[in-house]
Amino acid sequence: MYEQISHSLLNEILNALKPAIKRKHIRHFYTRLGANFFGMYTLFHKLYGHRDDCDKQMYRLVETMAKQYINRSAEHKAIDIDREKDYDWFMSQKWVGMSLYTEGFAGNLKKLQSKIAYFEELGINLVHIMPLLHCPEGASDGGYAVSNFRKVDPNMGALEDIRSLSHILREHGILLVLDVVMNHSSNEHEWAQKAQQGDPVYQDYYYVFEDRHLPDQYEANMPEVFPESAPGNFTWDEAMGKWVMTVFNNYQWDLNYSNPAVFIEMLNIILFWANQGADIVRLDAVAFLWKKLGTAGQNEREAHLVLQLMKDCCQVTAPGVLFIAEAIVAPVEVVKYFGEDVVIAKECELAYNATYMALLWDAVATKNTKLLHEGIKNLPLKLERASWLNYLRCHDDIGLGFDDLDIERAGYNPKAHRHFLLEYFTGAYGDSSARGMKFGQNSKTGDARISGTLASLVGLEAALARSNEKEIDEAVKLILLLHSMILSFGGIPLIYNGDEIGTTNHYEYVKDVRKDRDNRWLHRPTIDWDKAAKRHQHGTVEQRIFDALKKMIAVRKAIPVFADLNNRELITVDNPHLFVFLRTHPQDFMSSVLVVGNFDASPQYLDLSALDLWQQAQYSSMKDLYSGEKTKDDRLRIPAHQFYWLAMQP
Ligand code: GLC
Repeated sequence: MYEQISHSLLNEILNALKPAIKRKHIRHFYTRLGANFFGMYTLFHKLYGHRDDCDKQMYRLVETMAKQYINRSAEHKAIDIDREKDYDWFMSQKWVGMSLYTEGFAGNLKKLQSKIAYFEELGINLVHIMPLLHCPEGASDGGYAVSNFRKVDPNMGALEDIRSLSHILREHGILLVLDVVMNHSSNEHEWAQKAQQGDPVYQDYYYVFEDRHLPDQYEANMPEVFPESAPGNFTWDEAMGKWVMTVFNNYQWDLNYSNPAVFIEMLNIILFWANQGADIVRLDAVAFLWKKLGTAGQNEREAHLVLQLMKDCCQVTAPGVLFIAEAIVAPVEVVKYFGEDVVIAKECELAYNATYMALLWDAVATKNTKLLHEGIKNLPLKLERASWLNYLRCHDDIGLGFDDLDIERAGYNPKAHRHFLLEYFTGAYGDSSARGMKFGQNSKTGDARISGTLASLVGLEAALARSNEKEIDEAVKLILLLHSMILSFGGIPLIYNGDEIGTTNHYEYVKDVRKDRDNRWLHRPTIDWDKAAKRHQHGTVEQRIFDALKKMIAVRKAIPVFADLNNRELITVDNPHLFVFLRTHPQDFMSSVLVVGNFDASPQYLDLSALDLWQQAQYSSMKDLYSGEKTKDDRLRIPAHQFYWLAMQP
């Protein structure tokens, strides 16, 4: 019965389409619309069915999608069709990503094209360009406070430069990832300005309140994201004479998705960027999309419905385009952003694996894998056609969002352990050589997160300052060990620009008034290309890291079981310094690869003959696929901070 209602509505909508749309030959669009419409209708009604204008808005939704489909180039439509046929294309081990700020990496979009050879040299074939849209100077949150969702920052280039970059990247087989900051806009966005001028239509685009009555009630349950720089979740707007919800900075106004007009605007923007050539769209801060009184305003059921509806609409209009969920939340919550049902509730194909990232840092600090093992053991299963983005560093801070129960199971007290990690990574603990800074300190809760580059956090900065060769060597090994973990885990590894040449903290950010109050700029580097050139000079730190990563990437691409096909088994071993997992092949056990990482600063041993799974196989020796070394010894010796990717030899 419900399907009949949606079918008849679809007929009405199609009849009412403007002649200019009807005249177009858009067969694929109609096919996909027909296939998805019942789901779209159901979701739209769940979100907006209580409103009188619900069906009217549904007309607008379909019209928006049809127009963007018509705008989509023949080249992109052909890619859509190819990817529909080869639907698991992104699960392959062939993809290796890098994320970067255009300004720091290359200067501007045109110059970025000249870095394609660098990507190719390392083996990068997916590039995430951090947001580069128009933002107010000095109130941009690193590009995440957008004042025009369709205008490129003129210092970086123009729309045309993105189109040509996407085109040339594609010619080189490189995917382009672009951000859509969908949770909020800048207070200087046209919508916010109209709201400030008193336009009720645009005030309804945001969460606007006459007085503190409701904001106070919201505040009772909402945590603070930037407690130091932007305490509270509401800002008084003088021009409007009202309070507005600002969960992040006070100049970032939260968009109100309970208004279908906002949903349609943002869908239009996502499809716009899909049509400029984004292969993947990174959806920022998705956990925050729906606010409800009496809740923390994160991970609400409706936020998922919004994403499911976005996915359905995108599948109809630009099906080749994937979504990344940026949801830095508890493991049980993160997996929900993949969707909870392939048929009726798909969301984002990719999501940041913040859990693994933070757990790896825990193993660095503790030199053991107790919490890492516990955390990964309890990482919930994800949908089949979904994959992780595995990373070590990104432009944001490192949050210590471990599950308290996991911390306890690993034998620590959660509060004391988090305190230890903060002390360790800021170099305050014992002889720690990490050089990070605390970010987002909350004096009320005592919580904080960590800023700093990978190289500085593993001790390379301190070792270089002391010119201590042994320590430099240890730090380089740790950098490689960590990368070996994200390259073999299953999912797309995302290397952070600069890490491939051991870039240390960028302290000069304090001299820039646009950045000095946000120490995340400590690890948003301006790449020193003279330093990068040292990768060709034998024996330099740059060469040792770059060449090793380059080799690791090439080896990864040649190991089919490194594709993410839900083929990872965590192995429990006696030695607490080792992290061990098996990547398996569904039919051919002999193609499995055993990944072993030693997080301790001294050699460790693993008794292979004690591994149940390993005993199933008949093998005469094992070969480390990275170094090519063979071993016949059942008692495997793993040197300090080293890893193995072990394959069985018949
Ligand atoms: C995302 C971004 C972060 C930004 C925040 C608010 O988490 O990664 O850099 O500060 O959203 O836009």
